[in-house]
Amino acid sequence: MIVSIASDHAGYELRQKVIKHLEEKGFEVLDGGAPNGTDSFSYVDAGIKVAEDVKSGRAERGIAICGTGIGISLVCNKYKGIRCALCSNEFMAKMCRQHNDANILAFGERVVGLGVALGMVDAFFEEEFQGGRHADRVNGIRAVEDRNFKQD
Ligand code: RB5
Repeated sequence: MIVSIASDHAGYELRQKVIKHLEEKGFEVLDGGAPNGTDSFSYVDAGIKVAEDVKSGRAERGIAICGTGIGISLVCNKYKGIRCALCSNEFMAKMCRQHNDANILAFGERVVGLGVALGMVDAFFEEEFQGGRHADRVNGIRAVEDRNFKQD
């Protein structure tokens, strides 16, 4: 699977570790965002990179990291068809796949440690969308997008 990942400067260090973890597991990684952890880089530009990779089909799923995960998840969710889940524990990462069919996982380097982050990453890729009543709700999200988003 091809995975897009990007972060701002505040997510840079954790991003390097997540990339290593993904590559060891055999994922192909499209890396973007801050070139280092010292120079300021907007979470807006990092979110655009991940969201556009997933929306265009260049990547099947995405991982978005900033200091809290809040800013970058807000950006990703401005794209039609993107369901970016801001998570802070493994249970949330598991449920965002099972119930919400999330296609981008967001978290914050200033919020979670490495162990929790990698546990969330693993859950995000291992869990499947359960469909059924959850599909009706995800279709409800699509209907909201259709009513409120001006562009595809
Ligand atoms: C950067 O200082 C910080 O504001 C950003 O990483 C993020 O936490 C915003 O939501």
